[in-house]
Amino acid sequence: MQKYERLEKIGEGTYGTVFKAKNRESQEIVALKRVRLDDDDEGVPSSALREICLLKELKHKNIVRLYDVLHSEKKLTLVFEYCDQDLKKYFDSCNGEIDQDVVKSFLYQLLRGLEFCHSHNVLHRDLKPQNLLINKSGDLKLADFGLARAFGIPARCYSAEVVTLWYRPPDVLFGAKLYSTSIDMWSAGCIFAELANAGRPLFPGNDVDDQLKRIFKLLGTPTEETWPGMTQLPEYKPYPMYFVNTNWPQVVPQLNARGRDLLLGLLVCNPGRRISAEEAMMHSYFADLNPSVKQG
Ligand SMILES: Nc1ncnc2c1ncn2[C@@H]1O[C@H](COP(=O)(O)OP(=O)(O)OP(=O)(O)O)[C@@H](O)[C@H]1O
Ligand SMILES: [Mg+2]
Repeated sequence: MQKYERLEKIGEGTYGTVFKAKNRESQEIVALKRVRLDDDDEGVPSSALREICLLKELKHKNIVRLYDVLHSEKKLTLVFEYCDQDLKKYFDSCNGEIDQDVVKSFLYQLLRGLEFCHSHNVLHRDLKPQNLLINKSGDLKLADFGLARAFGIPARCYSAEVVTLWYRPPDVLFGAKLYSTSIDMWSAGCIFAELANAGRPLFPGNDVDDQLKRIFKLLGTPTEETWPGMTQLPEYKPYPMYFVNTNWPQVVPQLNARGRDLLLGLLVCNPGRRISAEEAMMHSYFADLNPSVKQG
């Protein structure tokens, strides 16, 4: 820890507190995440430690780099690449207006980061605007990849705030335990709609029940035909039969027809039918993507 000079506190999340800090040797600015675990007296579980150390190898321009893992006396501090701000704060600064080319660029970078992690068998499981970091040159990076698997997602944050359900897919809301890459693709769909609407969340549910109702009202209630196996999920319960009569141009007014088609490919209740990051990147919505973004 002598290696870093702690500067100001940046924020608090599910697992602990984040500080801005400076590497005393290289002068490099980093983000230090002090992780608190439920059973702090037990120390850091070795399984979590093993998982975390593997994440140091996950190197990609759209993933926030994990430089170092500092482990001493039951404390765990993760040293991350520092970014200027997160997407939530960016939304606050846009005053309800966003350039649709920025939406396209951010979504593409989000998908490219996802594709990289998914192809290395790493899931995020808790994607949300606070976990998408951006810097002044318009680069977007995914933060906190792999932490959910290492530490689990508690119902409450370290700061006692409730963990948000807004980006959770219906299969997880129904208690599915076999997570796959499709969980992140649903979250990407929710974030895409929120981007297109300059920060207005698509499904701001208050609890699991309200969350599922909001989803089914927009997409139609799934059935055993459209989603075989749904009724066998551990926390399944029947919902009123909402039929799809959604006026999509009204839901995402700034998004063009190609964008709406991609959005509908991501927001599929049946996880097996949701498109992958690789497929999404090839969608015609990106045909006119700025080549500098595509090349990165
Ligand atoms: N590498 C980083 N560079 C700059 N700011 C960061 C970095 N990591 C996190 N932050 C900021 O600190 C805040 C708190 O981070 P933290 O990851 O603890 O919580 P969160 O992202 O809100 O939720 P979660 O714990 O579920 O990831 C973030 O919302 C973000 O604004
Ligand atoms: Mg985070």
